[in-house]
Amino acid sequence: MVTPPPTTLDGQALYTQYCNGCHGTAKQGKTATAIQGAIDANIGGMGSLSTLTAAQVAAIATTTAPVVTPPTPACGSCHAIPPATGKHTYHRTRATCASCHGTGYSTTTVNAATHANGVKNLATNIGWNATNRTCANSCHGTKSWGL
Ligand code: HEC
Ligand code: HEC
Ligand code: HEC
Repeated sequence: MVTPPPTTLDGQALYTQYCNGCHGTAKQGKTATAIQGAIDANIGGMGSLSTLTAAQVAAIATTTAPVVTPPTPACGSCHAIPPATGKHTYHRTRATCASCHGTGYSTTTVNAATHANGVKNLATNIGWNATNRTCANSCHGTKSWGL
């Protein structure tokens, strides 16, 4: 009598076969307890899956939970466009966000590499003096930005 080799259950294949149709990837990585509980309670018609063995349910539970990327909050939710600070209002019709903050910035776009990274990015050509909070450039001599 030859003992058959132990079979390894493919949790991802089982998930694709039994779960993907209703859930997409949303229930990957759910615990066996949660899955069996949903089957036992016949949630959404899942009672039809009561033929799955405990080993199959356990294998399905080993699948990788989907990575949920939180939606990016809209412009204006963290700071006004432009902010009410300094001389932003004054420059509203005279310069674009990119003129002072650099390439990639507008009222609807940002430079993802430098935005919201803890550093207020300013283009060198505006002649920003962080200590005195002034600008000096081809438009005008030294002018205070204020707070
Ligand atoms: C016939 C459609 C259908 C199939 C097939 C199905 N489900 Fe569900 N399931 C539902 C619905 C509907 C709900 C309740 C709404 C929800 O939670 O998305 C649910 C709820 C659940 C819950 C409880 C809620 C939670 O997120 O903890 C789990 C766990 C779950 N399903 C896992 C699975 C797994 C794993 C499979 C494959 C073995 C599967 N389901 C197959 C329809 C289905
Ligand atoms: C005339 C130049 C200029 C223009 C145009 C400009 N900014 Fe600024 N911005 C600055 C300066 C200077 C600071 C202050 C930097 C500091 O405090 O280190 C600043 C700071 C900021 C800050 C940080 C919060 C704050 O109030 O200090 C945000 C957010 C900002 N700007 C957004 C914008 C947006 C959005 C636009 C386009 C609608 C824009 N800026 C246009 C010069 C400008
Ligand atoms: C999650 C909060 C948040 C959201 C949403 C947000 N910003 Fe900002 N933004 C910041 C912070 C914080 C700063 C201050 C400087 C820094 O940390 O880079 C900033 C700075 C800026 C600056 C100045 C340049 C810089 O990076 O220093 C501009 C211009 C700007 N934001 C435009 C926008 C635009 C356009 C949108 C929408 C696409 C937007 N912001 C959405 C948090 C946010």
